[in-house]
Amino acid sequence: MDFEIVSGDIPSLETECLVVAIEADGALSPAATAADQASNGYLSEILNGGDISGKTAQTLLLHKVPGLTAKRVLLLGVGKEDDRNNRNFRKIIKSAMGVVKSTGISSVTFALDARLTDDADLYRELRHLVEWSGNELYNYDETKSKKADPLKLEQIAIHVSENDSDLAETALLDGTAIVNGTSIARDLGNLPGNICTPTYLAEQALELDDEFDDLTTTIVDEEEMAELGMHCLLSVGNGSEQPSKLIVMEYKGGEEGDKPHVLVGKGITFDTGGISLKPGAGMDEMKYDMCGAASVFGAMTAICEMALPINVVGIVAAAENMPSGHATKPGDIVTTMSGQTVEILNTDAEGRLVLCDALTYAGKFEPASVVDIATLTGACIIALGHHATGILANNDELAAELIQAGEQAEDKGWQLPLWDEFQEQLDSNFADIANIGGRPAGTITAACFLSRFTKEYRWAHLDIAGVAWNSGGKEKGATGRCVPMLTQYLLNQAAEEE
Ligand code: BES
Ligand code: MN
Ligand code: ZN
Repeated sequence: MDFEIVSGDIPSLETECLVVAIEADGALSPAATAADQASNGYLSEILNGGDISGKTAQTLLLHKVPGLTAKRVLLLGVGKEDDRNNRNFRKIIKSAMGVVKSTGISSVTFALDARLTDDADLYRELRHLVEWSGNELYNYDETKSKKADPLKLEQIAIHVSENDSDLAETALLDGTAIVNGTSIARDLGNLPGNICTPTYLAEQALELDDEFDDLTTTIVDEEEMAELGMHCLLSVGNGSEQPSKLIVMEYKGGEEGDKPHVLVGKGITFDTGGISLKPGAGMDEMKYDMCGAASVFGAMTAICEMALPINVVGIVAAAENMPSGHATKPGDIVTTMSGQTVEILNTDAEGRLVLCDALTYAGKFEPASVVDIATLTGACIIALGHHATGILANNDELAAELIQAGEQAEDKGWQLPLWDEFQEQLDSNFADIANIGGRPAGTITAACFLSRFTKEYRWAHLDIAGVAWNSGGKEKGATGRCVPMLTQYLLNQAAEEE
């Protein structure tokens, strides 16, 4: 989508559809007032007629409004000032885009001017307008024989006052990068397990290397992983015909010696549970078990597009978890790259098994911070539902930075405790550590397992099991979370550097 920032007189804006805000009780926003005056009170007349009251996300499409260059005017309800928050802003954009998509119009100009959120931050408001309108245009048809009709809409313009246009251009660039990154994550998530294999993910990383000069991809294959001692990661792919891959994407936007921020994604391209086989119902959704990896791809793409002046390493631990005669069995003991041994009591707790070796590998970059992202535990859905990412960390400052980034990006996370008390649940009679800790606090014990491998650096774990995709029905599909949170976190790191 072509996004643009425009300024100038409302009545003479050239667009197929001018979108203006109507506030609660039919009050005209400044842009709506300008349009009303140019049309000799045409808009007020309609408002007086009661066709639209200005409630949040209400819409009314008008044609041939006199006195305006715009071909149509979309009146968009933005509600009471008290109700203006990010959540409602998102609903408002969704509703407007619904109208835009259902007509054949090729360009739309948002002249919303009224502050639509409560954080009074114009940059963020404009960025969200780009992100969320762009998100509404996402369409998955990669694996359908009949492709969707090409979108008629070619341009989304955002009207701002001349003084704000520099800020708006930055918001547009960042917003576009985030929506592109989110779409990449959604596409990868939605692809089925027979296409999106570890090898496929590795190929995508090599394509990013081709696309961006500042990004270099290295693929570590099974043989090299064995030499590095990554037997825990390798044990997960034992039952699969698909070779496991450790994918390393190094982005160098900062100075040579700047310590990198490392993102580590769980890339289980299909999770059957292995020998500890999952029940059949809904198992197809375990194609989404690589959504942590997908969010790393999305965030890496976004920071490349924004050319952030920091160093970032994206690592993806990719494997397929299958049962077979070669598969790892409950009770098997493997040695990790760190030297610690693990008793694999349940082969369905495989995410932590691939992540632990990837996290040890991450240490070699002497990172400024390490954040792993994983659809790690069903228990996280019980704890936080489908709204918040679970955040656990060995450093409360880092957890706070991620929570803040989540709020700024409207991609929220909530911290769970990582107290020592929980560590005992992982005791094993036969190895240094067991890979499961029983039913109580499943999300926390999973993070406890990872914490055994992250002692050398500042580390946080994001459990996105509840937020990475929508289940069932028409809305079924990957969400692209938590690309916005990760990208915001890295934007904040870059801002700190300056
Ligand atoms: N990928 C799953 C977690 C998951 C399940 C995410 C359902 C989203 C929806 C993970 O590999 C897993 O199977 N975890 C087990 C761990 C248990 C065996 C300790 C779980 O959550 O049941
Ligand atoms: Mn599993
Ligand atoms: Zn899994």
